Amino acid sequence: MQGFGREVILGVGGGIAAYKSCDLLRRLRDLGFGVTVVPTPSSLNFVGSATWEALSGRKVTTEVFESVEEVRHISLAKNSNFIIIAPATADLMARIAAGRADDLLTNVILASNSPVLIVPAMHPEMWNDEATKTNVATLRSRGYHVMDPDTGALTSGDVGQGRFPETSRILGEFAEITGSRSDLLGKKVLITAGGTREAIDPVRFIGNQSSGKQGYAVARSAQRRGAQVTLISANSNLADIEGIRTIKVESASQMLSALDAEFTHTDILVMSAAVADARPKQIADAKIKKNEFTNIALVENPDILRTISAKKSRQVIVGFAAETSENLETAQAKMVSKGADILYLNDISGGDIFNSETTHGFILVRGKEPKKVAETTKDTLAHQLLDEALLQLG
Ligand code: C5P
Repeated sequence: MQGFGREVILGVGGGIAAYKSCDLLRRLRDLGFGVTVVPTPSSLNFVGSATWEALSGRKVTTEVFESVEEVRHISLAKNSNFIIIAPATADLMARIAAGRADDLLTNVILASNSPVLIVPAMHPEMWNDEATKTNVATLRSRGYHVMDPDTGALTSGDVGQGRFPETSRILGEFAEITGSRSDLLGKKVLITAGGTREAIDPVRFIGNQSSGKQGYAVARSAQRRGAQVTLISANSNLADIEGIRTIKVESASQMLSALDAEFTHTDILVMSAAVADARPKQIADAKIKKNEFTNIALVENPDILRTISAKKSRQVIVGFAAETSENLETAQAKMVSKGADILYLNDISGGDIFNSETTHGFILVRGKEPKKVAETTKDTLAHQLLDEALLQLG
């Protein structure tokens, strides 16, 4: 795995600056990165596993012969997108430069192809030693991003180059490497996904074909851009996304109650769920017998989008419309009547949109010309909708 994801391995070397990496870890998590900490055994003298486990919310191991059944060095290498080593000691850099694999961290580094940011911190004499200089040059020539330490006072009382850089400088360098955006940092994004089910009896329901893939793509994309995401998921088989609060609902009325509770704290609402337009007038207590199952009396469901948009203050609302014809005027009217600011007109005429990885259609924005979306991934569309929502939010 590489590229667009937000999975980071934070390698911690055995230096006094290890405690400063706690702040780095917290800030990375604030930015929506999932962080697995891999300390070297000697670094545990400075900051123990319990601290890293509490701050990362994940298991911490330091040796390859712990949790052997997981083949942890390979699974960690495969499942991460970036590696940050902070602090990196002179010894740790020497071991990486020599291709050693004598603890879990150096094994992971050898096994991984992800970009690596190295943040050295040590006494100036050690930083300026010829051996360290050669190792740093070797690492840089192999494509590792090795930062220069800050200059200033050190724990030993000496002054010189060797200080662990400020968290903001590390994050700035990291942003250059990842190319990651954090433009939704501090924003709350609420998303509905999947398709509602309206019970007929304890066994049967009225449902629809929605897989939830588009809504989950919006949730993932918003999280990657730093948003705090809440997902209201209706009957999707997709796996929960780590770090995203997911509220599971079945019917339209449950979805409306969940939205009602969440909407006021939200900046952007993306209503991608397919909501049943009607529900059985009564839900039978027992399974309806085959010979009595001849018709179902229906009542109209509330239009959730319209109901919620009536309570709108600062929120930007994105609606969806699945149509078998590209009728832009009807979609425009739907956007206005439902109180949405943006509407994605999903062209489902080919019939293969449900459960598909790709989509095509039009993005409608109030006061703007419709924008055609040629066949693209649901992730890309998610980013385009979030870009537009952010513009509207101002
Ligand atoms: O009217 P139509 O079903 O095409 O509208 C689609 C949009 O309205 C979607 O954003 C969907 O989530 C929302 N909707 C709703 N409540 C309904 C039906 C649709 O919020 N009862």
